[in-house]
Amino acid sequence: MSRYAAFVLFLALGIELHLSHGTEVSVTGKDGKLCLYANLMVNFSVSYEVTGNTNETAEIELPSGVKSDGSTCDIASSELMLSFGEGHSWSMKFTVNEKTTYQVDSITFSYNLSDSTYFPNSLSNGTMNVTMKPHIANVGMDTCYSCKSKDMIQSDSVNQTLWNVLIQAFVSNGSKSENVTTCSADLPVTTVVPTTPTTTTTAAPNSTTIAPHNTTTPPTTIPTTTPTPTLPPPVTGKYSIKSDENSTACLLASFGLRIGFKQGDKYQEMNLDPNPNVTGVSGSCGVNSSELLLTSNTMTVMLTFANDTKKFRLHALNITGKTSSGVVFSEANSNLSLWEAAVGSSYMCNKEQNYTITNLLSIYTYNLQVQPFGVKKGVFSTAEECQGDAESFLVPIAVGVALLVLILIVLLAYFIGRKRNMASGYESF
Ligand SMILES: *[C@@H]1O[C@H](CO)[C@@H](O)[C@H](O)[C@H]1NC(C)=O
Ligand SMILES: *[C@@H]1O[C@H](CO)[C@@H](O)[C@H](O)[C@H]1NC(C)=O
Ligand SMILES: *[C@@H]1O[C@H](CO)[C@@H](O)[C@H](O)[C@H]1NC(C)=O
Ligand SMILES: *[C@@H]1O[C@H](CO)[C@@H](O)[C@H](O)[C@H]1NC(C)=O
Ligand SMILES: *[C@@H]1O[C@H](CO)[C@@H](O)[C@H](O)[C@H]1NC(C)=O
Ligand SMILES: *[C@@H]1O[C@H](CO)[C@@H](O)[C@H](O)[C@H]1NC(C)=O
Ligand SMILES: *[C@@H]1O[C@H](CO)[C@@H](O)[C@H](O)[C@H]1NC(C)=O
Ligand SMILES: *[C@@H]1O[C@H](CO)[C@@H](O)[C@H](O)[C@H]1NC(C)=O
Ligand SMILES: *[C@@H]1O[C@H](CO)[C@@H](O)[C@H](O)[C@H]1NC(C)=O
Ligand SMILES: *[C@@H]1O[C@H](CO)[C@@H](O)[C@H](O)[C@H]1NC(C)=O
Ligand SMILES: *[C@@H]1O[C@H](CO)[C@@H](O)[C@H](O)[C@H]1NC(C)=O
Ligand SMILES: *[C@@H]1O[C@H](CO)[C@@H](O)[C@H](O)[C@H]1NC(C)=O
Repeated sequence: MSRYAAFVLFLALGIELHLSHGTEVSVTGKDGKLCLYANLMVNFSVSYEVTGNTNETAEIELPSGVKSDGSTCDIASSELMLSFGEGHSWSMKFTVNEKTTYQVDSITFSYNLSDSTYFPNSLSNGTMNVTMKPHIANVGMDTCYSCKSKDMIQSDSVNQTLWNVLIQAFVSNGSKSENVTTCSADLPVTTVVPTTPTTTTTAAPNSTTIAPHNTTTPPTTIPTTTPTPTLPPPVTGKYSIKSDENSTACLLASFGLRIGFKQGDKYQEMNLDPNPNVTGVSGSCGVNSSELLLTSNTMTVMLTFANDTKKFRLHALNITGKTSSGVVFSEANSNLSLWEAAVGSSYMCNKEQNYTITNLLSIYTYNLQVQPFGVKKGVFSTAEECQGDAESFLVPIAVGVALLVLILIVLLAYFIGRKRNMASGYESF
């Protein structure tokens, strides 16, 4: 493929398009083919200083006429660079994630405070840069990311709102894909038919005691448990711990996490939002034990891994959180043996897994990979896969074995046949 021929970062040619709805940009690569497409609407709300020690807020709309000639396309990373007005720019950096998905790593907005049309009476005349981390990840390769809902990304002095977004990075065959990865905000939050048979509440076991005869006891009103809306699958978070600031990671983990908590006859599920603005990551690496602590506004998850000489495992899990009804819970189990693999390798389980942690708490993991010990060069070592994942490899192996057996049978039949022929040949003499 010519795409692979020159995968040194190259300057792309920008094409401008003016459409009444939003800002549409098609970036083409050196080969003249489309490599990055974006159609989106962005509003900025910028707080800036004016004379008299006060702040003004400027409301700016990303104009439809932008230049995209600073955009770059590469095999594993691309950048959409839109410049407009008097030295303002907005850029989005994309990276490929394990060849199957891509994500937006950061959005950088640069604004020129000297531009008095946007920033009248600004005290400063410099150009400011703010970098923000959007929630755009796990976009399937060869699909467009689509999000019609408004997504506000906040930072100290700039709030930006994105909506009507349709983006495709790493376009492979020169044309925009018809398939889309839809953001969770766009997915219908329908109150679906409860899949969990929550309504079969055992109507208070002891209340069905023999009622005093003749009194017609009114049927005990079964508490109607409100069906919980289906949650979108949790976003896969990537977490790493360094033993000190100058070293590479000593603990790596990547997973999407959902927890399920029973509270009386109610059951609630919550996703851990891995967005670094929401979830703080800390932890430590030891010889015999390593820890990963994830703290979000809705839950705190502490994972403790043990090194039992040859193997490691998730040994303890402590989750504290708050349900939507405000009930605080803290559930822990320090006698677990989950995610076991040899020290020096990583444990991987891509399929959805559920684990019962305590009789009130269960967890669900998605796209799991962990390595709490012996991380080299900041990347995961060879993975030991969980059963379900490994089974998908067993199929081709089984097919291979069957083929081999078939070949052996054919060969055997051939030699037997030859022997018979030779024998009969001698007899005919
Ligand atoms: C975006 O900004 C424009 C102009 O400031 C305004 O008319 C529009 O309502 C804003 N849209 C949103 C979604 O904030
Ligand atoms: C950003 O949004 C927050 C919450 O809505 C608001 O408090 C803050 O003033 C906004 N900042 C700017 C610069 O508009
Ligand atoms: C910033 O705006 C001023 C006034 O409009 C302009 O003279 C200057 O060139 C701009 N800076 C950049 C880096 O474009
Ligand atoms: C920007 O402001 C500094 C002082 O704050 C001033 O010396 C400089 O001339 C200004 N530059 C422009 C282009 O206005
Ligand atoms: C896109 O959709 C078509 C038809 O639905 C399907 O055949 C194709 O595999 C999809 N491609 C991707 C990358 O999902
Ligand atoms: C009623 O409650 C008592 C004590 O709480 C328990 O021992 C008994 O098994 C219960 N009976 C039924 C029918 O659940
Ligand atoms: C990290 O490196 C810097 C400069 O190389 C040094 O000043 C600092 O002390 C180091 N920090 C640690 C924790 O080793
Ligand atoms: C795991 O534990 C064994 C024995 O306690 C120790 O020799 C080894 O260095 C540990 N491995 C790592 C990666 O810390
Ligand atoms: C790790 O465990 C081994 C054996 O259980 C023990 O000898 C060693 O002192 C422990 N190391 C640390 C740092 O706790
Ligand atoms: C779990 O964490 C909470 C809060 O961090 C703490 O109060 C509790 O003691 C921990 N439980 C266990 C068993 O470690
Ligand atoms: C830990 O688990 C093992 C087997 O799973 C069990 O034998 C042991 O009693 C448990 N210990 C505690 C303290 O729960
Ligand atoms: C948990 O996983 C098992 C299979 O591993 C599955 O049969 C079961 O339905 C799952 N439970 C839930 C609540 O998803």
